[in-house]
Amino acid sequence: MPPAFSPVELSVVLPTFKERGNVAELVRRLGLALEGIGWEAIFVDDNSPDGTAETAKAIAATDPHVRCIRRVGRRGLAGACIEGILSSAAPYVAVMDADLQHDERALPLMLAKLRQNQADLVAATRYVEGGSAEGLSGTTRTNLSSWATRLTTELLNVPLSDPMSGFFMLRRDKFDAIADRLSPAGFKILLDIVATASPSLRVAEQSFVFGKREQGESKFNVQVGLEFLGLLFAKLTGDLVEPRFIFFALVGGLGLGVHLAALKLAIVGGAPNFYWAQSIATFVAMTSNFFLNNEITYRDRRLKGLSVAWGFIAFCLFCSLGALTNVGIASWLYYREEPVWWVAGAAGAVMGLFWNYAMSSLFVWRTR
Ligand code: GDD
Ligand code: MN
Repeated sequence: MPPAFSPVELSVVLPTFKERGNVAELVRRLGLALEGIGWEAIFVDDNSPDGTAETAKAIAATDPHVRCIRRVGRRGLAGACIEGILSSAAPYVAVMDADLQHDERALPLMLAKLRQNQADLVAATRYVEGGSAEGLSGTTRTNLSSWATRLTTELLNVPLSDPMSGFFMLRRDKFDAIADRLSPAGFKILLDIVATASPSLRVAEQSFVFGKREQGESKFNVQVGLEFLGLLFAKLTGDLVEPRFIFFALVGGLGLGVHLAALKLAIVGGAPNFYWAQSIATFVAMTSNFFLNNEITYRDRRLKGLSVAWGFIAFCLFCSLGALTNVGIASWLYYREEPVWWVAGAAGAVMGLFWNYAMSSLFVWRTR
């Protein structure tokens, strides 16, 4: 006799990082809320040091509703959600936080809207009648959230009252169609999906009350904020420019400031001659660029330990070649075409920037 099989209609994807204390309670609450529905919970854990994956797998060993993907060598909320959804075979998929801040009782209401084919995606929102964001920790976080919401509404044409929400449900076929165009960086997976799939995606909303976190702590940080700005920019340019390149360019721009400041300091501080001062300034700027890129631009592939040293040497070598490319292109343009100094100069700088970015991505912070 074949084993009993009940089809899964809804996969609930639960990204986790250090959420051990919330796993069991969440599974219990899902079971209550989704009574009568064929559901599964897919935990996607980024190798949490507190043993979240082990806890989820211990439950999965006896409860067929539960699965767990343990990702190694990677970090990121959006990327974890993408992989979780991709592992589902159910017609509907939901994403929600695993820290009990998202009210699971909204799930059956969201599912009903999809089943009735009223929409392709239902976003749970704190900012309509019946919803509330009271669980956000502190005024800074509340202000940031409403500022980001306003910025998004101004810049992108998305039909969302709460674009920062991390709680939603959609038809899996709609997700599969755009999966390879989504960004694994940052927290803003809902916004990315809607901005990428719109306007053909029919969006509905469901209010919910955002609760307080009882166990563990929030992983929101400056980096997450920066990644949000990068996503906004990428969507504004119609995905022409990838967010990583923007950060690389910004770091480069900042590097110019660092260079000039170091040059001034070196001259004032008594460098033997200009040649020396310029060399010191170049080295200082390259060093600061390297570490800023390591912390911000390539944070998800951040070099640690001994590879920092090798990465730094490689970065300096490639950037020196980049400088040669820059000078080569600029001089060639200057002498061949109309000699407009700033056009030639800017073209050289842009070429150098492209070169440095390509080499850094390929060889310094390469994906393992
Ligand atoms: N796999 C994985 N990897 N999971 C992560 C990571 C990561 O790098 N970072 C966070 N998570 C998980 C957490 O364990 C939690 O289950 C969920 O993602 C939300 O993370 P929190 O750190 O609790 O975020 P928050 O409460 O500050 O922010 C939430 O609410 C915001 C609303 O203001 C998120 O849902 C945001 O997307 C949302 O904007
Ligand atoms: Mn949270």
